[in-house]
Amino acid sequence: MYYKNNFLMCEDIPIVELTKKYDSPFYAYSKKSIVDKINILKNVFSKLDNYHIAYSLKAESNLSLLKIMIENGIGADVVSANEIRRFINASGDPKEVVFSGVGKRVDEIEYALSVGIKQFNVESIDEAKRIDEIAKRMDKKAKYAIRVNPNVDAFTHKKITTGTKGDKFGVTFDTILNNIDLLKSLTNIELIGLDMHIGSQILSYKPYYDGINILLGFIDILKAKGFNIDTLDIGGGYGINYDGTSNGFDFEGFTEHVIPILKKSNLNILTEPGRFIIGDSGVLVSKIEYIKEEWGKKYIILDASMSDYARVALYDAYNDIKPLVLNDGKKLIYSVAGPVCESSDFFAHDRQIEEVNVGDYVAIDNVGAYGASMASNYNSLLLVEQVLIDGDKDILIRKKQKFEEIIANEL
Ligand code: LLP
Repeated sequence: MYYKNNFLMCEDIPIVELTKKYDSPFYAYSKKSIVDKINILKNVFSKLDNYHIAYSLKAESNLSLLKIMIENGIGADVVSANEIRRFINASGDPKEVVFSGVGKRVDEIEYALSVGIKQFNVESIDEAKRIDEIAKRMDKKAKYAIRVNPNVDAFTHKKITTGTKGDKFGVTFDTILNNIDLLKSLTNIELIGLDMHIGSQILSYKPYYDGINILLGFIDILKAKGFNIDTLDIGGGYGINYDGTSNGFDFEGFTEHVIPILKKSNLNILTEPGRFIIGDSGVLVSKIEYIKEEWGKKYIILDASMSDYARVALYDAYNDIKPLVLNDGKKLIYSVAGPVCESSDFFAHDRQIEEVNVGDYVAIDNVGAYGASMASNYNSLLLVEQVLIDGDKDILIRKKQKFEEIIANEL
């Protein structure tokens, strides 16, 4: 997004034009931004002989957006059978799917086996046993990697750290070593690799470097024990620039320090980015309903809320808030909140923003990842429209929910 003649633009469209057509609040995504980010990743990983980018659907899984990923040769990292269904629905090939997650149910494993996914990322020994039993019953074979918790600090928010001691994810290498014979006895599933995912919104290459070195050491041990390991999944987690204080993930350092060890390993490398691909492509457009002054503070009350975008309430996330039309450039200090009855329903506290008026619109920036995908019907608010911007075209990619739909299953 950028300003042109005081109008906030997304690709070639002044966003304020969209407010005449779509119902505030709504999400808008730039196709160009998504494709550019995919190309950055491809450029980094193309130094390897064998790599596979599996987009993490949990970041955002609108079918039209998935289609852009698929058209650009990207596979899927999923955490539920329904995410596999989404990917297939968007014309994705199940053979491109990696199935992660600590709690895969029997019906989900059955579905994944029936469509024939690329691999399971297994998070406990009992899960490996369960997949093997189901595969045997269904007369199927499957490949799997084991997610290892390497206990490295990713230096990110504590609620999105996943690879340190005490996290629920993955297994310790000791657990694998204590179960070697058992793993060898599972005949319908084949252990082909190790996997890690150490956290989200990571900015430094260093935790990857540390985690990957630990996993490569484990892989050598597994090979010596007779396993035919050819895959290393390094997870997702590459951060974006939310607040202007960083350039986002350090791919320069990653290219210099991490890519060479991956290349030397000669393994098939998988990576599972979500936020990096979609995060900065999305904005949430919202109308100012009220501006009130209390306690010496100015409160902007938007029509968007934590039901549309929960990350500020959940993780104290920072997102830029920009008026769709700039006036005279004067700035004031505002706190920006939503209509939901929760004290945490805020988008910003005491933030300097261009002066705005009731009825103006603002864009909350960089909300493409974990925005619409984490939205809820809290306070019986409806899931909002999603719009795709492609050059000078705007395309509705999800309709607004109707009240009748949110009560449809209630008896
Ligand atoms: N792979 C696995 C196994 C994951 O659990 C995740 C994210 C990813 C890949 C993708 O991570 P990414 O590249 O997007 O960082 N709701 C939180 C983020 C939760 C991340 C969960 N796992 C937030 O809004 O910050």
